[in-house]
This record gives sequence, C-alpha cells and structure tokens, in this order.
Amino acid sequence: MRRGSIVALLGIGLLAGGVAAAVALLLPWLPVDASRQAGRIDFVFWFVIAICIAIFAIVAAVMIYAILRFRARPDDHEDGPPIHGHTGLEIVWTLVPFVLVTAIAIVSGVVLSRNDAEATNTLHVNVTAQQFEWTFSYPDANNASSPVLRLPAGRSVELDMRSLDVIHAFFVPQFRTNEDLVPGLVTHVHITPDRVGTFPLICNELCGLGHALMRTEAIVMKPAAFDAWLKQQQQATGGSAGGGGGGGQAAPSGLSVFKANSCSSCHTLTAAGATGTIGPDLDKLVAYAKQAKAAPLAAFVRRSIIDPNAYIQPGYPKSTMPQTFGQTLSTPELNALVQFLVQASEKASKG
Ligand code: CUA
Repeated sequence: MRRGSIVALLGIGLLAGGVAAAVALLLPWLPVDASRQAGRIDFVFWFVIAICIAIFAIVAAVMIYAILRFRARPDDHEDGPPIHGHTGLEIVWTLVPFVLVTAIAIVSGVVLSRNDAEATNTLHVNVTAQQFEWTFSYPDANNASSPVLRLPAGRSVELDMRSLDVIHAFFVPQFRTNEDLVPGLVTHVHITPDRVGTFPLICNELCGLGHALMRTEAIVMKPAAFDAWLKQQQQATGGSAGGGGGGGQAAPSGLSVFKANSCSSCHTLTAAGATGTIGPDLDKLVAYAKQAKAAPLAAFVRRSIIDPNAYIQPGYPKSTMPQTFGQTLSTPELNALVQFLVQASEKASKG
C-alpha cells in the first residue's frame, strides 16, 4: 500500500470520527443524572458509544476511500478481478467484534451487579401499580401512602414493586432505572438518589388506554426534610387508625380524594367536572341504589368503593374498577369521599 493511501485513509477516518464524537459530546443527549446508579449506567453508555465511534470511523474511511480510489471510469465495462476470500482478514473481523462484545458484556455485568448490591440502612418503599396510577407506601411510617414518590438524597432505597392488574414498568429517566411490575411477582429496584429535585416518574410499558396518563413524580428531598415529612405521614395514619378524628389537621375534602385517585378517568360526576364513561355515571347513584335495592345511599356508595364487584350496574363491565381502595384510602379519606358522592349525586338527581 502506498504511503499516500495510508495518509488518505487516516485523514478520512479521523475526520469521520471527529464529526461523530462532536455529535455525541456536544449535544445534550441525556437528562441530568440524579442517582449513584445513573453514573454507572452512563459509563456503560459512553463505553459503547466510544466503540461505535471508532468502528464508524474505520468503516467510513474504507468506504469513502474505496469509492474515490477504485471508481470505474465511464467507458470501463470490465468485471473486477476475481477475489476468493482472505483468511487473515476473516480472522480479524471475527476476533475484533468478539473482543468488543465480550468487553461490553463484562462492563455491563459489573455495573448491573454493583447497582443491585445491597447497601446498609436501606429505606424500603412499596410501589403499587394499577391501571392507571401509582401508589407508594412507606413501611417505616405505618405504611403511609403517597401518590408521588418521595425519597431522601444520599440514602440507599429499595423499591418493592407489585402490580394489581397488568404489566407496568417503573421508569425515572434521571435515575436511569427501568423495571417491570408483573402481576403475581414482587420486583425490586435499588436507587441511591444523589440530587435534590423533582423528576418525572412514568409507566414505560403499554398497559392500556390510560398508559400515557400513568405518570407522577419522584421528589428527592434533603434527608432532614424527608424525615420530617415521613414523621408527619406516620402521625397522620396513626391518627386515622384511632377513628373519630377531629384533631388539629383539616379533614380531607371528598373532591380532592376523588381527583387524587383518578376517579374522573372512568366516571362522570357533574360536581367534580368529571366526564369518564368507562364506569357507571355517578350522577345517577340515587337511581342505581334503588335498582340495587340498597339503602341507605351512603352504605351503598361505601360498599361500591371498597368492594366494587358486590353490585355491578347493568351495562357496565365487571372487575374493571380497582378493588384496592379499601386498603389505599385512609378512613378519613373514605368518609369524605362517601359523603361527597352522596351529596353530589343527591343534588344531581334533584337537578
Ligand atoms: Cu402502566 Cu403503562
């Protein structure tokens, strides 16, 4: 091979590699990283990208050089010289990918096992997914539950995840974590958040009509603020277990419970501005209770929330409403919701 050819190949390769590296490095491809695991995942990502850029540079150099150097002249109709393989080249292009793929596998394996490693003083959070909402509960605080995931910065967290219906997936891009939630299994994710902030938490598995709406937030707080919040939640649940309530804290409003639990995605209720059509029309609860021969209305409404399959209004699907509100709603929330639904439907039946 002539010296000029080697210089040309090298020049084209460096140029192609430089352009590819600039595109990779100068554009902000990734969201900020907000967990210790994210740093390791990003390392794997950039390790693979570096290999890809090198291969791209070699392929681009050989291809562009060959196009320019060996192009047939317009009047040249001859076949090229017959070539029957090259053992040396074949060994090279088998060995090189083998080494690269093995290296990627080893690096990925080390990173995944480090990300999954148990840490000390781990905070456990139960994650429950159902069409189409997330619930997070904290065993350290009487299983106080929250519709957003709050985590302390700097502490190792294990999410113990369950699905009540179909397969969902937990994904916070800034944590670089994605894990399926599978009915009948408990799956786990380790996160050590290291950046205070609010990040989107999305369902990353097509799980039904409301999949795109199945999103909430992960809020990483300073440890002291998190501890204060958790204590407050614990006291709130402790108070509700005693019943009676009436303490210093304001009682939850039925409308806010209705909205926080996404009731409006399936039900119509004028008083809440809700127009869902999957489940029964809650403006007609008075008529439904008569059809069900159930009285009083409040007892019918309460039973229908806790045990939705006890009475199915004709024309609506069975087993579609989550059967978990008896566990996920606190007693004051349930009371407020029942009272709100009774008043709103009585008003609607008169109007
Ligand atoms: Cu749950 Cu998509």
